[in-house]
Amino acid sequence: MTAKGNNSMQPYLGTLVEVKDLANEIKIFRIQLQNGGNEAFADYKPGQFAFVSAFGLGEAPFGIANTPERGPYLDFAINRLGSVTTGLHELGEGDTVGVRGPMGNCFPMEDFKGRNLIVLGGGIGGAPLRPVIQQVLDHRSDYGNLTILWAARHPSLLVFTEEYAEWKAAPNTSLHLTVDQPDEKWDHNVGLITELLQKVAPKPDNSVTITCGPPIMIYYVSRMLEEMGFSPENNYVTLEARMHCGLGKCGRCNLGEKLICVDGPVFNMAEVLDLKETFL
Ligand code: FES
Repeated sequence: MTAKGNNSMQPYLGTLVEVKDLANEIKIFRIQLQNGGNEAFADYKPGQFAFVSAFGLGEAPFGIANTPERGPYLDFAINRLGSVTTGLHELGEGDTVGVRGPMGNCFPMEDFKGRNLIVLGGGIGGAPLRPVIQQVLDHRSDYGNLTILWAARHPSLLVFTEEYAEWKAAPNTSLHLTVDQPDEKWDHNVGLITELLQKVAPKPDNSVTITCGPPIMIYYVSRMLEEMGFSPENNYVTLEARMHCGLGKCGRCNLGEKLICVDGPVFNMAEVLDLKETFL
């Protein structure tokens, strides 16, 4: 897990070239960088994050939701939660934002080559997992089976629904969906992602798992994976949802001695599973 990123305080200007609803209160922002930003972001890795600023309101850290191979742009899935994200939600195509990064470590995609990947995303936690999926799909023969377990409280909160057809059509790839509260059109699984995990029952042999979602979901998924025979060293998580300042200053992302924004946001569960208070 290398790629610690660019700590420059200088934001690059970026143009919003696409803004669209991704799920209820979640939009995807596609940003084309200006003034040298393309060089800074030429080789960012799945799992890294960047700061996006709404001018006059401030900036916040978000996981980058695409790979550089997919195009000369950055995608961010942003939930409307506070003043910065509300300000961003009020912007539209053609508006300018600031972007700083890339930052943080990354998923060790090189080490994953030849192995089966089980990707577990809960709600907007699917956003930093999308580049993992894109990387595997774009280099399909480098990796083993890809099993995607995707969950949300309600169908309206599932992210990247327009891409499910692409994911399902890829060789050796399966997608399993679940929600806690179905609507009348829902015809997939109902229940928690841990129940779906039990049902799909992936095998631990030559496999790694990658999880992102609410901390409590990560905790119970990781516990269940251990019961299923997965070793914590092979269970990777990104804990970016716990970041606030993203700068190592506020101390709100502490994991024992570590800070998620400085030492992560990607960890394997062997590093963090004992820190129960982090998740519950
Ligand atoms: S988010 Fe503030 S110290 Fe890490």
